[in-house]
Amino acid sequence: MNKLNSILSTFLLAMIMVSCGSDQTGKQSGALSGNAAERVYVAPGDHDEFYGFFSGGFSGQLSVYGLPSGRMLKVIPVFSQDAEKGYGYNEETKPMLNTSYGFVPWGDLHHLDISQTNGELDGRWIFTHENNTPRVARIDLTTFETVEILEIPNSAGNHSFAITENTEYLIAGTRFSVPSPQKDMSIEEMKGNFKGPLTFVKVDQESGGMEIAFQVIMPGFSFDLAHPGRNASHGWMFATTYNSEEANTLMEVNSSQNDKDFIAAINWKVIEEYVANGGGTRMTANYAHNVLDHDTHVATSTMKQGILTVNPSEIPGAVFFMPTPKSPHGCDVDPTGEYIVGSGKLAAELTVFSYSKMIKAIEEKNFDGEVYGMPILNYDAVLGGVVREPGLGPLHTEFDGKGNAYTTFFISSEVVKWSLSDYQVIDRKPTYYSVGHLMIPGGNSRKPFGKYLVAMNKITKDRYLPTGPEMNHSAQLYDISGDKMELLLDFPTIGEPHYAAAIPASIIKENSKKIFRLDENAHPHAVKREADTRVERKGNDVHVYMTMVRSHFSPDNIEGIKVGDNVYFHVTNLEQDFDVPHGFAMLGANTAELLVMPGGTKTMLWQPKREGVWPLYCTDFCSALHQEMQGYVRVSPANSNVALSWSLDGD
Ligand code: CUA
Repeated sequence: MNKLNSILSTFLLAMIMVSCGSDQTGKQSGALSGNAAERVYVAPGDHDEFYGFFSGGFSGQLSVYGLPSGRMLKVIPVFSQDAEKGYGYNEETKPMLNTSYGFVPWGDLHHLDISQTNGELDGRWIFTHENNTPRVARIDLTTFETVEILEIPNSAGNHSFAITENTEYLIAGTRFSVPSPQKDMSIEEMKGNFKGPLTFVKVDQESGGMEIAFQVIMPGFSFDLAHPGRNASHGWMFATTYNSEEANTLMEVNSSQNDKDFIAAINWKVIEEYVANGGGTRMTANYAHNVLDHDTHVATSTMKQGILTVNPSEIPGAVFFMPTPKSPHGCDVDPTGEYIVGSGKLAAELTVFSYSKMIKAIEEKNFDGEVYGMPILNYDAVLGGVVREPGLGPLHTEFDGKGNAYTTFFISSEVVKWSLSDYQVIDRKPTYYSVGHLMIPGGNSRKPFGKYLVAMNKITKDRYLPTGPEMNHSAQLYDISGDKMELLLDFPTIGEPHYAAAIPASIIKENSKKIFRLDENAHPHAVKREADTRVERKGNDVHVYMTMVRSHFSPDNIEGIKVGDNVYFHVTNLEQDFDVPHGFAMLGANTAELLVMPGGTKTMLWQPKREGVWPLYCTDFCSALHQEMQGYVRVSPANSNVALSWSLDGD
């Protein structure tokens, strides 16, 4: 049997395994199910113990769930327009989606992580990244809003992503090797000519602001997953590579030829020092940096030029390769920083590397060849241990902080718990079905909260009521506080969750903003009292300075607008109470509604195309008289001489 057939038959076998028998669906009955229900039940009015942040994958958004209840609390738009909130539609946030390719209204959000201080979750920001138009983003966890997006130039399919343990750097690695810099060349000449850049983005410790520090121009492999060193291994980052064959076609066969690919170990402190001493070369690059201003709440997009690149083969001690069997995917570092778990997607064993053995091998120059001038470490010298026959198709590993690791197996559809001290399997539980990522709150930090585990499954099938050909992906919550894992709950997720992160609610809930203070609103078009509301014409541009408060707009009657005008509604919500947003919709506008938070200002552009009297109204149910919160705009012909006027109740 050739290799492709053998892979296919393994998959087929797995599909048969997940398809057969209702006795395998994990449904519990009697006392057990009652007990499980109790453990995920959060009584009406009570709060969940954890916030869980789930990647929305190809929805370009991330979603916030309470754990253990699995209740969805919010969707946060990041790389995609969201009509519910007006993100990417209103004038304030449109610049967030600007790129060197122009306005890109959709993105493929992949991994995310919560910021860390001393290797522990600090709950200040979430950082995430996009796979299609390479970008990284920052979400502020006081407002749960996307506040910054930085494009990553000279990269393609930004997929491996890691945050160092003091949030010094984000590391964004390319999944598709490409010419660097981009140029017109034959695809067949890929080998040796394409590159795999790893971009190091510096994070300002106070503001969270992101800047590209340097780009490490690695060989043209696919960089898949990455995690930072921690404790002793702080200063290193580890990334899996596949396609070390540098194949450019029929990848499922041609990139699975080598018995081993690599985990790249990158000593970023050495590179940082090299750069600080003037090392590196400027490369032309053109990329967008989009920032939502803290005071005005208006985003600006700045096009930036040029980045610093470094050739790692010219920096002694910067990069080493650890041979890792069979197209590794997951690359996970345990809370102590000593163990680096490499999961070969097609391997029968789990490979665990030892950081201290790696350092020893480097000191003793225990090398086994080189890759483009960078040493390959001897496999046996860096191997910490192997987990034998753990399952089929290992992907990702998280940790409970009690010496245990939990690995997902896609093909055999299970989560397997094993011991970091002796590599023995302790427990295994099925998932429904074909699990990808898993998440333990803090499971990618020095301090995991090892109470729950969430498996994120790629296939849902019969777990919920059918909803046509597509079922939302399924997350499953397990209790991992005892020796054996217990399945407690299934809940649906949005898009395809490539990873999630969770944090005790107590760390962030007190910091969550309840309103924006009106007296601090520095939006250039804000009006802070009804007396200041007005309409101004500048040629064809008309600016409406409008307020909203329960339950009317000021002004709510406007005349003197003409066909062909550009009408900007700058709408300020005067409310100063928690959870009282108002909405704004205009008949004939070619955009989404505005949703304006208390104390905030948002702008809608309306280009009236027809004469008439057109209504506007509040979209968000705000009071008993929400339905009365409405108004009219009169639109006259382009050549009309109807005077510009505005009023509320005749004033
Ligand atoms: Cu304001 Cu509904």
